[in-house]
Amino acid sequence: MNVLDFQKMKDEGRKISMVTCYDYSSARAVAESSIDCILVGDSLAMTMHGFPNTLSATTSMMTLHTAAVARGASSKFIVADLPFLSYRKGLKDAMHSVHELMSAGAHAVKLEGVHGHANIVRHIVDSGVPVMGHLGLTPQSVHALGGMKVQARTNAAVKILASEARELEQAGCFALVLECVPTEAARQVTNLLKIPTIGIGAGPGVSGQVLVYQDMIGMNPGFKPKFLRTYAKVFDTIQTALNAYDQDVKSGNFPNDIESYSQIHQVNREVA
Ligand code: KIV
Repeated sequence: MNVLDFQKMKDEGRKISMVTCYDYSSARAVAESSIDCILVGDSLAMTMHGFPNTLSATTSMMTLHTAAVARGASSKFIVADLPFLSYRKGLKDAMHSVHELMSAGAHAVKLEGVHGHANIVRHIVDSGVPVMGHLGLTPQSVHALGGMKVQARTNAAVKILASEARELEQAGCFALVLECVPTEAARQVTNLLKIPTIGIGAGPGVSGQVLVYQDMIGMNPGFKPKFLRTYAKVFDTIQTALNAYDQDVKSGNFPNDIESYSQIHQVNREVA
């Protein structure tokens, strides 16, 4: 998939599948799957570093994770998040962050909102870097929004959402994430725009879906927002494996003879 395929898929009525990914080994799993594209989201501040929200993500953090993902999934289209305030401190700082992420292996960047930085979006696009927008619940504004809440629930708010979406399209975005907005609002914006929309908690009327990897594989058992579908119980599977290993170690059942080296093997064979 490349950036042009996003538009093609919307035009042909084919849904786009996207998943977040933050590390090399998960990227290898995504690379072997049929998922269309990867988001190195700033949600990694939470899932990988244990912060309470995305505000602690930095450009160097995003760059390190983007590079790891790019090494693990070199065949996938990778979008990397510009972190909190990195595109609000002027063009020079914004372009520094863009440069770091693209040099790390991203194929596009994503940023939240549009008010006050449409010119920066345009500059990034004009520099040859595809930009994905992000509207609705924009987690970098969690404090301004009064928490992680569903957005655009009134007609007036849907109007604002639609006009911001238009602005991002006009600034040159190739796609737009819509997070936690009612189904009808997301459908309306999707129909209004030429570019595709990727929903998370935005219902089925969008051009594609994105989920956080850890959430959809069941690595985050306590987290169950309405929009989330979990496709595995990986946390439970890991617990079972860890406890079985612990028991084997403590009972002396691990390692056995086959899992141990003899002296002859040490002399004649490479460690395998
Ligand atoms: O950072 C992230 O994971 C995201 C998705 C929720 C869209 O922006």
